[in-house]
Amino acid sequence: MTQENQQEIHKGLDGVIADYTAISKVNPESNSLLYRGYPVQQLAQQLSFEEVALLLWNGELPTAAQRDEFTAFERSHRALAQEVKTAIDVLPTDTHPMDVGRTAVSVLGAIHPEAGDTSPEVELRKAKELFAAFPAVVAYDQRRRRGLELVEPREDLDYSQNFLWMTFGEEAAPEVVEAFRVSMVLYAEHSFNASTFTARVVTSTLADLHSAITSAIGALKGPLHGGANEAVMHTFEEIGIDPKESREDAAARSKAWMEQALAEKRKVMGFGHRVYKNGDSRVPTMRGALDSMVAHYGRGEVMGLYDGLEAAMDEAKGIKPNLDYPAGPTYHLMGFDTEMFTPLFIASRITGWSAHVMEQRADNSLIRPLSAYNGPDERSL
Ligand code: COA
Repeated sequence: MTQENQQEIHKGLDGVIADYTAISKVNPESNSLLYRGYPVQQLAQQLSFEEVALLLWNGELPTAAQRDEFTAFERSHRALAQEVKTAIDVLPTDTHPMDVGRTAVSVLGAIHPEAGDTSPEVELRKAKELFAAFPAVVAYDQRRRRGLELVEPREDLDYSQNFLWMTFGEEAAPEVVEAFRVSMVLYAEHSFNASTFTARVVTSTLADLHSAITSAIGALKGPLHGGANEAVMHTFEEIGIDPKESREDAAARSKAWMEQALAEKRKVMGFGHRVYKNGDSRVPTMRGALDSMVAHYGRGEVMGLYDGLEAAMDEAKGIKPNLDYPAGPTYHLMGFDTEMFTPLFIASRITGWSAHVMEQRADNSLIRPLSAYNGPDERSL
């Protein structure tokens, strides 16, 4: 058995700086996240998700004219393409929504009239089209899982309002729209995480944007990445959610559950981060959105479960929650099925992924690491 050990192996590429990016900066020391230089908390407070998307793509905040132009474009590209609907309808209604989302993006790429065109203008337009088109995929999939018909988009509503409208078939309360918008802004971009890096690897082969994003969705599905928001809700469900329970009782129960889980050496989803070691910069803002949903729906026991798990994890291991932790229960309270949470993450991250696709292509080098061989020594048949 040969073991090449002259070179250091960076398992999981831990600590490896693979390239430059001007799109976002994650700073674990100052616990901050900047999109194109702007703190994400400020963006989440002050900008629409549509404006944040333009910032990520273009590098600068949009002018009023650019914003209005994109608003009109986005609103006119929301309808579910017939080919995509047909492809979704072939899939069983219990197909995992991440598989549905991955299939939908693949179909959108295959039927695109400029499928093979990777020029900057066409690629930016494809990114905008995908941004506008994906909510209908999630909304339709959520509805068909419940035996409900497609709801057509409405051009008089903004992105978040329309997303909730197409999903639930009624206009959402302003607080709900606001919490949803905040979640979209916070999920939009996070440097070289696994799915973004996947998108860049695929782009580096000179494949098209839809191929890169279809692949990124595959990477996002895993519970160590995007699937964690869904897994968080499974934890809550395992502990048991009882709307009649007091916040204090729920907190005591979830604290005990966490102590037991850690004693059993279980990994609890929604906690920990490869880069942030002292708390995820996005959590306070998302927790604020969760607080407002708890107040809106009068569901104090959900916050009890949340606080109990967080406190017990902190006391036992000092590990802090990541964004998926408050996002999971927020989407639950809004009425989404647990399996729909990660597709909501896709809807948001299409912005960051496509910005990285364009950045990679603008200064490309094929991404192809080396490996150290540890198989059998050379032998003959
Ligand atoms: N629950 C319990 N223990 C955890 C933990 C969690 N969520 N996250 C980390 N730990 C512990 C590990 O068991 C390990 O302990 P040990 O040294 O006693 O073995 C230590 O903390 C380091 O963990 P490790 O998995 O090596 O850190 P990492 O930097 O490779 O992992 C994650 C980062 C995100 C993969 C990891 O924290 C995790 O799996 N979290 C849950 C999934 C999740 O929420 N993902 C979304 C990320 S945004």
